[in-house]
Parts: sequence; C-alpha cells; structure tokens
Amino acid sequence: MDRIALVGGIELKGSIPISGAKNSALKLQAASLLTQEPLVLTNMPELADTRFMIELLEQLGVTCFWPKGSGRLSMHAEDLTSTIAPYDLVRKMRATFNVLGPLLARVGHATVSLPGGCAIGARPVDLHLKAFEAMGADIVIEGGYVKAAALRGLKGAKIIFPFVSVGATEHALLAATLAKGETVLENAAREPEISDIANCLLAMGAKIEGIGSSTLRIQGVDELTGARWSVIPDRIEAGSYACCVAAAGGEVTLTNMVPETISSLIDVLQRAGVDVVVGEDWVKITRDPHKPIKSVDIDTQPYPGFPTDTQAQVMALMTRANGASIFRENIFENRYMHAPELRRLGADISVRGSEAVVRGVETLRGAPVMATDLRASVSLIIAGLMAEGETIISRVYHLDRGFERLEAKLSGCGANIRRISGSED
Ligand code: UD1
Repeated sequence: MDRIALVGGIELKGSIPISGAKNSALKLQAASLLTQEPLVLTNMPELADTRFMIELLEQLGVTCFWPKGSGRLSMHAEDLTSTIAPYDLVRKMRATFNVLGPLLARVGHATVSLPGGCAIGARPVDLHLKAFEAMGADIVIEGGYVKAAALRGLKGAKIIFPFVSVGATEHALLAATLAKGETVLENAAREPEISDIANCLLAMGAKIEGIGSSTLRIQGVDELTGARWSVIPDRIEAGSYACCVAAAGGEVTLTNMVPETISSLIDVLQRAGVDVVVGEDWVKITRDPHKPIKSVDIDTQPYPGFPTDTQAQVMALMTRANGASIFRENIFENRYMHAPELRRLGADISVRGSEAVVRGVETLRGAPVMATDLRASVSLIIAGLMAEGETIISRVYHLDRGFERLEAKLSGCGANIRRISGSED
C-alpha cells in the first residue's frame, strides 16, 4: 500500500485548481441509469471512488467511456443487463447503494447489497428505504441484500424526512423523477451537490421545483433524455486546501470553484486570523506563518451550516491555535478517529462523545501516522504541513478515494510531499 511522506514548515505559494465534486459525481453517475440515452459528465474527478462506480455501472450493462485525463465521462445505459449490485462492489463505497432507486424507477426491481464506506458511524439506510416504501415499493432485506420491487412502477408520495440526510434526499429525488405523479420531499438536505444533481436532472427533462430549498417537488415524467453536464466544483476539496494554506502559511489562490459553497469555512478561517479574498470563481487564502492562529469553536450542521466533511481539517489547524477550541460533531457519531493520530504529532486533543476540546500547542513534530477515513486523512496532511520534520502517512488509499492529484497540487505550491509506492502498511 502507498504511503505519503511530507516535510512541514514550508510556506505554500501559487494556485490550485479545484476538481469536480466527488459527492455529486457519484450520484450523477447513478442518474445515468434513469435514461436510455447517453449522459455525458464533464469536470469529472478521476478518483478511486468514481472509477469504482464505473465498475458497478458496467456490471449493470452501462457502456462507459472515460478517456484518461479528459475529465469527460460518457455513460450509456441503453439496455440494462442486470439489476443486481453485488456485495463485493457495494461494500467498498456507500454511494454505490444509490443505484437502487434509479433501477427501481426504471426497471421496477433491484437487488442491492447493504452498503459499506468510511467507518465514521453506523450510517444506516432506513430513510432511503422508507422513502421507496412510501413510493409503493415492496422491500425485503435478506442475506445482507435489499430486494426492492415496484412492478407497476413507483408512485409519487409525500415524504417528510425526520432529520436531514444527504444520501436519502438524493436517492429519493433520483427515483421520483420517473414515478407516477407528484413527490414532495420535506426536510430535504440542501447541500450544493443536491442542487447540482437536481439541475442535471432538469437538463434530462425532469420536473423539479424548490431546488436549493428544504422542500423539493418532483412531477414524475415517463422518460428522461440524455444530457451533457459539468459537475459542480468540490467544496470539500477547496475547503481542505484552504486549511492547508492556513496551516502552512503563504498565499494560494484556489481556482475553478464556487466560493459561496464554502462560506461557513471562510467565516471560520477569517475568525482564525487568516486573510481570505473572494472572487467570482476563486478564493485567495493568505497567512503569515509567524502570525498566531486564533482558536475558533466548530459545530457541524447540515448545509449551509459548517460541514462535517471539513471538521477534521479545521481540527488539524486548531492544534496550533492560541487557546482552546471546542468541536461538536452533530452529524456522525464516530468522526474523531483523526484525533489519536493528530496526538501522535503532539496535538493536545481530548474527546468525550460528540465533543472534542483542542488546546493549541507551540510545536507539532513529524511522526508516522495512519489515515483512518477519507477526510481524516487530509487532516493529517494539514498537520504534517505545520509539523517540524517528516510525517509519513500510511493507508493513503483513503485519500485516493476523494482527492485528485493531491501531491501534485500541493507540490505545485512548493510543499515537500511525495508518494512512496507499494510500501508496507
Ligand atoms: C453524505 C456524504 C458525506 C457527508 C454526509 C453529510 C456522499 C457520498 N457522502 O453522506 O461525505 O459527510 O453526506 O454531509 O455524498 N442516516 C440515518 N439513516 C439513513 C441515512 C442517514 O440514520 O437512512 C444518518 C447517518 O448515519 C448520519 C446522518 O443521518 O448520522 C447524516 O447522513 P447523510 O446525510 O445521509 O450522509 P451520507 O449521505 O451518508
């Protein structure tokens, strides 16, 4: 397994282009199952997760064409040859579960393994399944598989989510586009990726109102057409690099991004004493590395609140702050796995349940650490950029799931970072 070695204490200077959003791309890939015509996605991030979704789509009979380095993925689900998503493919990545709804909506039945993914909590799929039941599907769970059938098609329904779920909102939205009649999703998640998916579905001929709000109204149509769609830039990737620059110091412009999607993070960085200049599709982050970082408290919330997916990154930054920061993780119950690894570098972090207290220290020192999940792994990079000496991160396959060309993007700004291929875990 690959490892990453980086030497801290070097300011970053330059610009970093932001890639397409993984969390949108994966669900847009699933949307290709809804139509017999080709769906072409541009600004596609080349990641382990998006490649993995292609593997599953091909298994279902979708013809995929993705010239390397083109950022353009064409998916053509003219004739589906299978409606079964096997355990081996679904256990590795939770988002593959989202083929269930499109298959059910288009073909009337599907058998999909219960999902896996990052080990950041229980992450059940009960809300997804309740939504499909409300739309008239019969659902049985047998031998680790969800078997769903709606042989006469899904029908529109009013679905009130008891709490906000990104995955369940997206999944119900995809399926509702081909249901008979109107579906209303209340207490829907409002993440920018959901608006991106909804807008792509509009381009495919779906009828959706309320995009960007917590109530989505979908009028089912008989069929959807193909479309060409550019994946929204990745706000989590942008936020992660913003934290890298804040940590290392220097001046970096993040380009090809949507600044308003990281507003809550910009606010946190400014309160921490980092200079942020916002342009139309770029953000410039500047910090004098000799100037102290001010401590800021973090409360994760659904969008537009502070994202759980950048909690670990800001925690890494706060390990060197002046004073203490209190973190409250409100979305996932087990999302401080990075804390013990950050402690290996000298951070002072105590975790009690959903709360963590980070007391800033003078110095972090490089050490061998282990990536535990996707976003946690980038927090170790951020801490490593501030640490004295060399940090070696193992299990970087977590990083490869969600960050395109990370070492190239950081070394392009002067970071001393390299990949050590095929080394011991
Ligand atoms: C998505 C993102 C993930 C992000 C998360 C929250 C993708 C591929 N992943 O994950 O990066 O951290 O949103 O912004 O887009 N829950 C249930 N029952 C359900 C569904 C969810 O109890 O049926 C719970 C989860 O365990 C979690 C909370 O609801 O505690 C929110 O999860 P959800 O918003 O669904 O996250 P994901 O879609 O899994």
